[in-house]
Amino acid sequence: MTAKKILLLPGDGIGTEVTAELRKVIDWFQTTQRTNFDLSEDLIGGASYDVHGTPLTAAAIAKAKSADAVILACVGGPKWDKVPFAVRPEAGLLSIRKEMGLFANLRPAVVFDVLAGASTLKADLVAGLNIMIVRELLGGVYFGEPRGIETLPNGERRGFNTQSYTTSEIHRVAHVAFELARKRGNKVHSVEKANVMESGILWREEVIKLQQSTYKDVELLHMYADNCAMQLVRNPKQFDVIVTDNLFGDVLSDLASMLTGSLGMLPSASLGAKEASGRQAALYEPIHGSAPDIAGKGVANPLALILSYAMMLRYSFDMTANADLLESAVQNVLAAGVRTRDIVEAGQTPVSTIAMGDAVLKELARLAA
Ligand code: IPM
Ligand code: MG
Repeated sequence: MTAKKILLLPGDGIGTEVTAELRKVIDWFQTTQRTNFDLSEDLIGGASYDVHGTPLTAAAIAKAKSADAVILACVGGPKWDKVPFAVRPEAGLLSIRKEMGLFANLRPAVVFDVLAGASTLKADLVAGLNIMIVRELLGGVYFGEPRGIETLPNGERRGFNTQSYTTSEIHRVAHVAFELARKRGNKVHSVEKANVMESGILWREEVIKLQQSTYKDVELLHMYADNCAMQLVRNPKQFDVIVTDNLFGDVLSDLASMLTGSLGMLPSASLGAKEASGRQAALYEPIHGSAPDIAGKGVANPLALILSYAMMLRYSFDMTANADLLESAVQNVLAAGVRTRDIVEAGQTPVSTIAMGDAVLKELARLAA
């Protein structure tokens, strides 16, 4: 059997620091022969722009497409605020999603028991919380045409974007949400603004059609996006799976992630269609951004990236034992009070990015002994 190919994209900001810690974890799995991956690394975002003048080269796209899984840390930062819009770091991210056909973005908001106290919400409101947000990732207003900034005859400037969804775009992502729900709490909230947007009306109608034809066993509820934002803070445990468009999913997943206490803890997966061979394009990345304010200081939390790797082991390669081992190591390290400063609690002294990586490694070795 040929080794599975993994592409690592450290990106910008804290990306390089947290990837260095992930690298140690990957190496541990490789040297203990638990995995046999063929690893490569490339640039994305501002780091790529600085070297190549583009946030994602054709060569990097080709590597990503031929990889069995891609792990991306994060992109962006104020350093590139003035570069042309089309070659901004974020454009590299949007383009890798598009090139790999990643239309479904799975963003779990799971509360680690030992971190329930770190949430800004009351602990009983979030203890045991486990929500999965399925965000449509290739359509909607982030990709819709026409778009642009124009100058009107009267000299005013006008910026415009287009929100649009087709039936197939709605069905393929709703399909992912219903399938996930069947393996979880069997409940889907479909979220849009059908009260003011035609694309929202279509979204609701098509999700209902799919449920009626294929997923009658799954409970389907509808919610306007603004109400959903409010309900997520008021009573988050009412949700199991939320399926929503690109823009609302972007906003609501940031909101939901904060219910858990730390953005620094949450992984995500972006998936394409399953091919006949069973292969499925997949990119794993933390939900957090590049955190330019703390980049280079050695204080970032590497756990979201490390947990993204665990998610990859589980979903792309069915390596349940390895994924369980890594997730247990992370849980134990947290339970022992080892915390980076974003999740530190009263009486604990925050550790560095490197110390957190070392603690995970040490715990892996202990668990495996
Ligand atoms: C995210 C990010 C990206 C997005 C940005 C960096 C383009 O916010 O993954 O949620 O909006 O999709
Ligand atoms: Mg976002």
